[in-house]
Amino acid sequence: MSDHIKTMGQQFGRRSWAEPWKIKMVEPLTMTTREQRQRAIEEAGYNTFLLRSQDVYIDLLTDSGTSAMSDRQWAGMMLGDEAYAGSANFYRLEAAVQEYYGYRYVVPTHQGRGAEHLISKVEIKQGDVIAGNMYFTTTRVHQELAGGRFVDVIIDEAHDPTSLHPFKGNVDLDKLQRLIDEVGADKMPYVSIAGTVNMAGGQPISMANIRDVQALCHKHGIKVYLDATRMAENAFFIQEREEGYAHKSVREILKEFCSYTDGAWMSAKKDSLVNIGGWLAVNDANVFDKARNLVVIYEGLHTYGGMAGRDMEALAIGIEESVQDDHQRARIGQVRYLGELLNEWGIPIVQPIGGHAVFLDAKRFYPHIPQNEFPAQTLAAELYLDSGIRGMERGIVSAGRDPQTGDHRYPALELVRLTIPRRVYTQAHMDVTAEAVKAVYDQREATRGLQMVYEPEYLRFFQARFARL
Ligand code: F0G
Repeated sequence: MSDHIKTMGQQFGRRSWAEPWKIKMVEPLTMTTREQRQRAIEEAGYNTFLLRSQDVYIDLLTDSGTSAMSDRQWAGMMLGDEAYAGSANFYRLEAAVQEYYGYRYVVPTHQGRGAEHLISKVEIKQGDVIAGNMYFTTTRVHQELAGGRFVDVIIDEAHDPTSLHPFKGNVDLDKLQRLIDEVGADKMPYVSIAGTVNMAGGQPISMANIRDVQALCHKHGIKVYLDATRMAENAFFIQEREEGYAHKSVREILKEFCSYTDGAWMSAKKDSLVNIGGWLAVNDANVFDKARNLVVIYEGLHTYGGMAGRDMEALAIGIEESVQDDHQRARIGQVRYLGELLNEWGIPIVQPIGGHAVFLDAKRFYPHIPQNEFPAQTLAAELYLDSGIRGMERGIVSAGRDPQTGDHRYPALELVRLTIPRRVYTQAHMDVTAEAVKAVYDQREATRGLQMVYEPEYLRFFQARFARL
């Protein structure tokens, strides 16, 4: 299988890819001095989430809500029908989700976690167990707040940053079967599947695997729900790596994948190329009814769910643009360009290079910093100090504490994510980024860790503060 992983260069001979668009409008970037950055990171408690964006040069914190919209999307913004009820833009959005994802019923939400909240409240009872292909921070916290416990059933390779498995997002069916035997199917309302698994390094799940997951779950009366946040990107990896899919379009692959699931929640701020938005979609009329009732309590009426009419229009157009093969080739190609530079220079990153980001492996970057001195948090701060480039910790801080024992969770992966916004930065920005990482790598032996001096109760990585040891 692993010889299916080819670089873009190998795959298309010596012909380069290029973005299928040109730039119509630009936004100036701010440059800072090292002194200014030193002050800014101290004020931010060594947490890149607490920096002001005006102090950031190249912002690779997240690909969430940071995409550049197309001229068609901006034109769509002018077509906003800002009616409280029954906005025309909602019906456009509903039709787009039905057409491209294939689900029957659509509930709009302000963003992904709004949809996670609704589905968790509808499906989870106290004491339930939710299996999934690795946790995501907001997804798991909503499952826990609804009374559930998340159990990771991803394949072991996903926890090994050096494994070259082409589908590290796959579910380990034996782990899933053992969990069903242990807790009982009646305690498992659904299995939680994510496309290009964020916390594993943006790693895809295969079509064969989702078919097997569906077969096993349905045999036991367990539903399968999809976190579709980056599923269009996952479809590109299936096209590239899975036998029988080379001649299918991203659009066809996406719809087939969704057909093996009972519903999905979506953070449209990623794949769908908008700055805000989300949805929940299901095939079961009963579940839809409950979710549509809850959305009016927590988000807004069931025909806007927290979005303006114009946001829904831009989203409907963004969905269509996100399934274009050329778009995905350039999007994932740019991420790979950055990753391959770091590979060439021997800098430890998660392999294979994922869909939305390059993940620096902080455990191998700073082998002398123990995990409870926050190596990834340290690395993100050092990179900012060096160059004004902002990444995000995805390690022990993000993993939080075990609600039962109160101890830190110690994840195998201790990473810094350099997340590439869609259609925003150029190849030259990727060169500058790679060179900055190299400069920090060259200084690694002199770098010391951090201590946490403030810790919020939920999703602590967003607001925690640190100081130098
Ligand atoms: N699921 C996945 C896989 C995500 O990556 C995110 C958000 C969500 C759900 C929640 O969606 O932010 O719209 O409420 N991820 C962002 C990130 C925050 O930076 O990876 P949201």
